[in-house]
Amino acid sequence: MSIFNVNPVTVEDYRLRARRFLPRFLFDYIDGGANRESTLRYNVSDFEHYRLIQRVMKNVEHVDCSTVLAGHQAAMPVALAPVGMAGMFARRGETQGARAAQRIGIPFTTSTLGICPVEEIQAAIGQPFWFQLYMLRDRGIVETLLARARAAGCDTLVFTVDLAVLGLRLRDFRNGMVGTNLPSKLSKMAQLLSSPRWVLDVGIKGKPHSIGNLSDVVPDPDDLNAYKAFIDSQVDSTVTWQDIAWLRSIWPGKLIIKGIMEVDDAQAALDVGADGVVVSNHGARQLDAVASSISKLPAIADAVGGQMEVYLDGGVRNGLDVLKAVALGARGVLIGRPWIWAMAGGGEAGLDSLLGLFHKEIRAGMALLGVNRIEEVNRDVIELAAGKTGT
Ligand SMILES: Cc1cc2nc3c(=O)[nH]c(=O)nc-3n(C[C@H](O)[C@H](O)[C@H](O)COP(=O)(O)O)c2cc1C
Repeated sequence: MSIFNVNPVTVEDYRLRARRFLPRFLFDYIDGGANRESTLRYNVSDFEHYRLIQRVMKNVEHVDCSTVLAGHQAAMPVALAPVGMAGMFARRGETQGARAAQRIGIPFTTSTLGICPVEEIQAAIGQPFWFQLYMLRDRGIVETLLARARAAGCDTLVFTVDLAVLGLRLRDFRNGMVGTNLPSKLSKMAQLLSSPRWVLDVGIKGKPHSIGNLSDVVPDPDDLNAYKAFIDSQVDSTVTWQDIAWLRSIWPGKLIIKGIMEVDDAQAALDVGADGVVVSNHGARQLDAVASSISKLPAIADAVGGQMEVYLDGGVRNGLDVLKAVALGARGVLIGRPWIWAMAGGGEAGLDSLLGLFHKEIRAGMALLGVNRIEEVNRDVIELAAGKTGT
C-alpha cells in the first residue's frame, strides 16, 4: 500500500508528503545539508549511540512532561526552531507554526528571514515568542529590528553565531538557488506545474512573499533577488564576542546563543552574560564533517548546565530523541525540519498532529523509564550503546 493511502504519523511520513507537494528546489532547500551531508546523517544517527533504560514497578500514574523554557511554562521540553522563509513552504508559514506552538503550549521562534513580519505573528497569537537574529553589517538595522521584535512581544532573543559565511549547500547549487547558476525559467516552470497545491496555497494565497522583517530596508520588497543581494551584502563575517556584549547591553530580555559546539565557546557565552546556548550545527547546513550536536551535548551540559540553560537542536525526530537530549543535560530541544515538513505536508493540522505525537511519545517514554517529572530525566535513565564511547 502506498504511504499516501494511510494517515501520516511520523516526521518521515510528513517529509515524504512535503516532497510530494513542494517544488523540488524548495524541498531540497529544506531537506539538504552542506557539502557531502555527512553531518546531516550524523545528527540523526548519533542518537542511536544512546539507549534509554527501562524501569518497572514505579507508579507512573501522574507523568508530567511540562517544564520551564526561557522563563515560561511549556507543555514539553520542545520549541520550534527558527527557519528562514517558512512562509514559502506553507501559506504564511510562520503564523501557522506560531499558532500550532501556542495550541500545544511550547515556544515558537521566528527567523530574521521569516516571510511574516514579527507584527503579523503577534497579531496571530498575542503572546510572547522568540526572535532569532543574524548579525547584519548595518548595526542600525539590527537595533531597529530588535526594537520591533520587542514591541511585538518577543522576550527571548536567539542569536545565531554559526553563520560567519553561508555553508555550501550543494543541492541549492544544483537547483540554481545560489550563485549565478540560476535555473532556466523552463525548469522552474516545470517544477511549479508539478506542484499545483503549492502554487495555489503559497504561490497565490500566500502573498506577499517579501521577507517581512526586512521589507522596509531593501530597495524592492517584492523582488526576492533584491533580498538575496541585500543578505549577501549584510552577512557579517567580522562578528566576535564583543558584538554579543553589545547585544547584551541593548537587549533586556533573555539572550540565547545558538550554534555552540565546544565547551570553551559555551563558557564564553556564559561570560558575556547569555542566559542560554543552543548546542547546534545549524541542522548540518554550515560546516559539514563537524560532529553531531547530540555527541557534543554532554560535555557542554556538564560544563555550563548548572549556570545557564542548555538547549540542543539537530536530528531530533521523535519524543524519545527529546528524552535522550534531556537525559544528557538539555533543558529542551528545538526542532527545525520536522515542523516544516509537517506543515508543508499536512498543513496546520499536520503540525498539530506531529506535535501531539511528540507529546505522547515523551509521556509514554517517561512512564516506561519509571519517572513522573522531567527533572527525573537525567543520566540515570540513559546509557551508551554497547561498543560506543561518549565524547
Ligand atoms: C530550511 C531551513 C532554514 C533555516 N533557517 C534558519 C534561520 O533563519 N536561522 C537560524 O538560526 N537557523 C536556521 N535554520 C537552522 C534551524 O534553526 C535548526 O538549527 C536546525 O534546523 C535543526 O536541525 P533539524 O532540522 O535536524 O531539526 C534553518 C534550517 C532549515 C532546515
